[in-house]
Amino acid sequence: MVDKVLIAYTTKSGATKKTAEKIAEVLRDKFNYWVDLANLGEQSVPYVGEYSGVIVGTGVQKGRIYPETEFFLAKDFGRRPLAYFTCSGFTYPKTYEETLIAYTTKVLAAYPNFKPVATEAFGGYIKILGVPVARKMDMAKVAVWADIVGTKFGE
Ligand SMILES: Cc1cc2nc3c(=O)[nH]c(=O)nc-3n(C[C@H](O)[C@H](O)[C@H](O)COP(=O)(O)O)c2cc1C
Repeated sequence: MVDKVLIAYTTKSGATKKTAEKIAEVLRDKFNYWVDLANLGEQSVPYVGEYSGVIVGTGVQKGRIYPETEFFLAKDFGRRPLAYFTCSGFTYPKTYEETLIAYTTKVLAAYPNFKPVATEAFGGYIKILGVPVARKMDMAKVAVWADIVGTKFGE
């Protein structure tokens, strides 16, 4: 049973932060969980011991998730329920299925201690003529996933 959740995320252009905040909103409002957000690029690596569930979120650039996320994934999470999501521009690879394989399945294979109960690939920002444009960002989809995670964390 989960009551205190950590959402640890890494972002460069803000999509993962926005997504993490939406997930936090659903978990607080609908499930009454205590939720802390940790921006891994701005603060020291949080101590997971006090959390009964952990969600890791990361952006993607140049075919890789961010290094701060890789560092965090190597931690020992014990038996607490985990979830994982990515935000990317669907530029490389271009399809949803390939994106899941590239940045979730293949990435998490390197972290055998990190076995999430839920994973998802959300959209992010791409630049068109130098202007950031939201690509496949869908906060309703994020809210649905947060609901799934909240339910699984409560089992
Ligand atoms: C320099 C750069 C490289 C990128 N490389 C990729 C990529 O390889 N594949 C992809 O799907 N999206 C790529 N993107 C889009 C990012 O995934 C997108 O901006 C996403 O919002 C990043 O998450 P963040 O906003 O939380 O930093 C790239 C964006 C930038 C600026």
